Amino acid sequence: MTLVDTDTQTLPSMDALVIRGGARLNGTVRVSGAKNAALPLMAATILAPGEHVLENCPSLMDTRTMARVLEYLGAKVRFEDHVCRIDTSPVRSSEAPYELVKTMRASIYVLGPLLARFGEVRVSLPGGCAWGPRPVDLHIKAMEKLGAEVSIESGYIVARSPRGLTGCHFPFEFVSVGATGNLLMAAVLARGETVIENAALEPDITQLAEYLFQLGSEIEGIGTSTLRVRGVDKLSPGRVRIVPDRIEAATFVAAGAIAGGPLRVEGVKLEDCEAAVRKIEATGAQITVEGDAITVDRHERPRAVDVTTAPFPGFATDMQAQVMALLSIADGTSKITDTIYHDRFTHVPELVRLGADIRLDGNSAIIRGVDKLSGCPVMATDLRASAALVLAALVAKGETRISRIYHLDRGYERLDEKLAAAGAQITRIRE
Ligand code: UD1
Repeated sequence: MTLVDTDTQTLPSMDALVIRGGARLNGTVRVSGAKNAALPLMAATILAPGEHVLENCPSLMDTRTMARVLEYLGAKVRFEDHVCRIDTSPVRSSEAPYELVKTMRASIYVLGPLLARFGEVRVSLPGGCAWGPRPVDLHIKAMEKLGAEVSIESGYIVARSPRGLTGCHFPFEFVSVGATGNLLMAAVLARGETVIENAALEPDITQLAEYLFQLGSEIEGIGTSTLRVRGVDKLSPGRVRIVPDRIEAATFVAAGAIAGGPLRVEGVKLEDCEAAVRKIEATGAQITVEGDAITVDRHERPRAVDVTTAPFPGFATDMQAQVMALLSIADGTSKITDTIYHDRFTHVPELVRLGADIRLDGNSAIIRGVDKLSGCPVMATDLRASAALVLAALVAKGETRISRIYHLDRGYERLDEKLAAAGAQITRIRE
């Protein structure tokens, strides 16, 4: 293992969180670098042999897993003090094995870069996830459209393009963050022009496109839904500072709204999480924005609001569970509809255990606000669901014990420590 790990709290563990509800959050928390921007950027380093430097890289299980995938391929990865250095000159292998991909779906991001660099790739099919199927057919179609021959062999996506890739016109029928990223990364080294229509506008994709541009790619329309890429022969490595995590930022704003503040959230890029922040404000939370800091407070019972998830700049599917925790104590009935992932409701039965009144109706959850939640043992089921349980526990009467928080550690950097520093009564225990 060449991975240098100076942080201590990122190994998979069976830790649990014990939270005593009722304390207001009175303090400051700082947002880390964005997981969902870091992962495609790490994969993109494959495209340009040499040493890349990713600053403000969050120290998380998921970034460690991506580092392991890159190391498996032959790269040298060093992770120190939130700076991730990746030397992709020694990359020789073009296979991402099941053992790594199954632990993190975002490993699929190596598909496009490996195919573009080596003309062949084998990436394990990621399989389903806690909240249902998450297909990768668009990733495969995109590689085929660039001229690759793709087959599924023994659970692996095998793609070959011995004579290189050729630019194409690819109109997405609906927005896909992952497939936009993969297509973009493959297209930068393809022959000729690729036009991606209905490209994802998520800040993660914008940062990826900006980094690829910095490496020498010819890309027009960055930040818009039409990306025009003119393939080049070669890219050179670069240095990038990862944007603040918009989901972590909005999770903290929801935490301040549920527990009461004043909680100051620093290092926020508001335009990246505005839909969620404004929705939380609509529940009656007081939001004050000052430069890159948001202060959130609440004195009255939250008001019910309806939420529908949508691609960026709409309300993110990744914030649905946390806002559901807030709405579970609202005055009135709210409805949350997830249009991105129709089954993404594994947090509902756990919130119900805490006393919430939530009923599922297709891809909607109907939340009848209750006066109070009460603490009990619950189980984290996936990343954002875990965050929702932490938020609910902050306001639940008595003690809540949340098991299996390795899900939380996949995507939030020391959430418990950050909240504790702001006054939450939260302790990590070994189960
Ligand atoms: C999605 C979210 C992203 C979030 C991530 C993890 C959107 C648009 N994307 O990104 O913000 O951070 O989940 O929660 O909100 N799909 C296919 N075939 C494919 C790929 C996707 O049918 O090959 C479908 C998915 O089932 C889903 C939709 O497209 O309904 C959007 O998926 P996509 O954006 O690709 O998923 P992620 O990249 O995981």
